[in-house]
Amino acid sequence: MKRIGLLTSGGDAPGMNAAIRSVVRTALYYGMEVFGIQRGYQGLIENDMIEMNMRSVSEILNRGGTMLRTARCEEMLCSEGQGKAVSALEKRGIDGLVVIGGDGTFRGAKCLTECYGIPTIGIPGTIDNDLEYTDYTLGFDTAVNTCINIVNMLRDTMNSHERISVVEVMGNRCGDIALYTGITSGAEIIIVPEIKFDMEDVVMRINRSRKSGKHSNIIVVSEGACSAEEFARELKAMTDYSVRTTTIGHIQRGGSPTMADRMLAAQFGNKAVRLLKENIGNRVVGIRRNKIIDLDIIEAVEMKKKFNYELYETLQMISM
Ligand code: F6P
Repeated sequence: MKRIGLLTSGGDAPGMNAAIRSVVRTALYYGMEVFGIQRGYQGLIENDMIEMNMRSVSEILNRGGTMLRTARCEEMLCSEGQGKAVSALEKRGIDGLVVIGGDGTFRGAKCLTECYGIPTIGIPGTIDNDLEYTDYTLGFDTAVNTCINIVNMLRDTMNSHERISVVEVMGNRCGDIALYTGITSGAEIIIVPEIKFDMEDVVMRINRSRKSGKHSNIIVVSEGACSAEEFARELKAMTDYSVRTTTIGHIQRGGSPTMADRMLAAQFGNKAVRLLKENIGNRVVGIRRNKIIDLDIIEAVEMKKKFNYELYETLQMISM
């Protein structure tokens, strides 16, 4: 393989830039040419690309976001859009593609691979950690660390005022950001889309913690379960506690990637290009039990994310 394309698509995630750097530098190391495609599949359809060199990826390792920009592209879902994408690749003489993104990005890649035979490698980049085949997605660790820092600050002020803080985190249909934030910041309760919550049980847990001498409570709510506002309204209707809400929002999608995300980015990017170099396409890369792996893209997209009930129970036992 001589010339590859690279794009980031869907919601951005810290570590995407570090992965871009790794892909570009590995490809150049092997003597391949790399075209950076701007704004994800939208830029591919519009043939909006730039050739990248060693210096195009200087000083991006530590930066959040994506230098290639990103988009959620409806057009890529129809055959007309896909046809335009394929002809742009042909025009540029690109014979392999690396896509960095989440589930939607991989579905686009699956189609390019399955219907048009374009060798494509997917790198999991999303803060949601909602892909079953990999233990971690790029950006998740940084997002959770950002949420932990915010919960730490909230705890200070909640303690002073003896309040309850309801903190909303992102995660779409996956409760992992809430689960990991909750367990690592000492939140007493987490509300996730995978588990139906019972407000009476929530109140019982809060009362019990107060009786045991606790002065404040943190409840981390995943956006996929309900909003912080909604939850707080219901809680206030049942108790006399002073309750405040915080929605972390897009702050958790920005910022400099952590060591864990930089390490994943370096390894994912390197592995993706090594596969293309061997003319192996139609794969996604990931990490399982601390080992970098690759898997058939169709198989990966079809796996349903499982919730970690054991971690949830751990939180229930130790956070009170
Ligand atoms: O997919 C990442 C994510 O941050 C989700 O957690 C969230 O639901 C969504 O993107 C928000 O999307 P947008 O930035 O388009 O509002």
